Amino acid sequence: MPIIQVENLIKKYNGNEAVKGVSFEVKEGESFGFLGPNGAGKTTTINILCTLLGFDSGLALVNGFDCKREAHKVRQSIGLVFQEVTLDNELTAYENLKFHCYMYNM
Ligand SMILES: Nc1ncnc2c1ncn2[C@@H]1O[C@H](COP(=O)(O)OP(=O)(O)O)[C@@H](O)[C@H]1O
Ligand SMILES: [Mg+2]
Repeated sequence: MPIIQVENLIKKYNGNEAVKGVSFEVKEGESFGFLGPNGAGKTTTINILCTLLGFDSGLALVNGFDCKREAHKVRQSIGLVFQEVTLDNELTAYENLKFHCYMYNM
C-alpha cells in the first residue's frame, strides 16, 4: 500500500482548475520531492493532503485514509513543517510548546 496515493485529483477555485487531474504515489519510507513552476498547484495539492482544503473530484489517500471522509485519521497520521514560522509572538517559548502539545493531544 502506498503511504500517499493521489489519483486524477481536480481542484477548482471559482471554476478555474488549479489542480488538473494529478496522479502520483509515494511509498512508505520514500523521500519524495514535489516540484513544479509557480502556479502549478503544489500548495493546493499539499493543502488537500493535509485536509486543510477540499477538492472537486479524484482520490487522495494518506496512510490509506481518505482526505475527504477520514480527515481526522489523516491528521493523526501526518506531521507538517510549514514554510513560514507558525509560532505565536504573543506567547513565550514554553507557552508555544504547550499550545502545540495540546493540539497534538500530548
Ligand atoms: N485561494 C485561491 N483562490 C483562487 N485561486 C487560487 C487560490 N490559491 C491558488 N490559486 C491559483 O491556483 C493555481 C495553483 O496555485 P498553487 O497551488 O499556489 O501553486 P504552487 O504552490 O505550485 O505555486 C494558481 O493559478 C493560483 O493562482
Ligand atoms: Mg506554493
